[in-house]
Amino acid sequence: MRVEGHVAMVTGGGSGIGRACALMLAQEGADIVVADIDAAAGERVAGEVKALGREALTLATDTSVKSQVRKIVAEGTTRFGKIDILVNNAGIGAGGPVRDLDEAVWDRVVSVHLKSMFLCSQAVMESMIQQGWGRIVNTISRAAFRGRAGVGPYSAAKGGMLAFSRVLAVEAAQYGITVNNVAPGTTVTPMVEAAYGTLELQEEEARTSGVVTTPVRLAWPEEIAAAVLYYCGPHSDQVTGMTIHVNGGSYMP
Ligand SMILES: NC(=O)c1ccc[n+]([C@@H]2O[C@H](COP(=O)([O-])OP(=O)(O)OC[C@H]3O[C@@H](n4cnc5c(N)ncnc54)[C@H](O)[C@@H]3O)[C@@H](O)[C@H]2O)c1
Repeated sequence: MRVEGHVAMVTGGGSGIGRACALMLAQEGADIVVADIDAAAGERVAGEVKALGREALTLATDTSVKSQVRKIVAEGTTRFGKIDILVNNAGIGAGGPVRDLDEAVWDRVVSVHLKSMFLCSQAVMESMIQQGWGRIVNTISRAAFRGRAGVGPYSAAKGGMLAFSRVLAVEAAQYGITVNNVAPGTTVTPMVEAAYGTLELQEEEARTSGVVTTPVRLAWPEEIAAAVLYYCGPHSDQVTGMTIHVNGGSYMP
């Protein structure tokens, strides 16, 4: 049990990578707060966490809205006494070519990824400072590092998360809090299944995006969650401001 006695809030925990993080952290002993805008998805995952023998709390939460973030953090800390792990993972995949891009799409994508990270990190820091221990892990993306057409606001938001994580890592270090990132390549979740629904399309995307590991395939959510778990577990106290790339070798910094 690598995170026994800890309480983790996972944003976007109702689906895909967030769900995998919630379940893996629960399997390793943490109680879980699921902050997802989709209430039904949050409830489903809370049920899965309880089936693993851990406690779970969920509230429909738009993590880009301060009052909603404050509400779930307050309920979580009242119920569990603390939140000392935060996985900033909520996300949406909207975008399009820059020359046609709607301002509202830009604002929403940047807000859901980058502003959510600010609001959620700020909201849990007090509880982490009281423990003298905290772990903040952000799901960023290969898109923060490598240009690809059609993902302007998404890439910009993820790059912003990377830069912000380094500032937060320095500011929070004195309180025993580490701040790190996982940068997935294309990963098989509901977010991408609309585009790459079949195994053939997934393999084509893996080849196109430059995956070199064998067999050539997309990443699975559990492979991203395992990197998140490393940052939250007992062997990473010296690691902060860092990024683990889980992308089949398709981008090597
Ligand atoms: N799947 C990939 O290929 C991939 C690659 C790199 C990074 N990522 C990142 O991983 C994270 C998870 O993506 P996923 O692929 O699991 O997608 P997903 O669509 O399966 O899950 C995203 C979850 O976030 C929730 N969400 C959306 N907006 C929200 C908001 N405003 N407040 C709270 N919750 C909200 C959704 O309801 C959903 O449950 C995202 O940040 C995404 O950008 C995904």
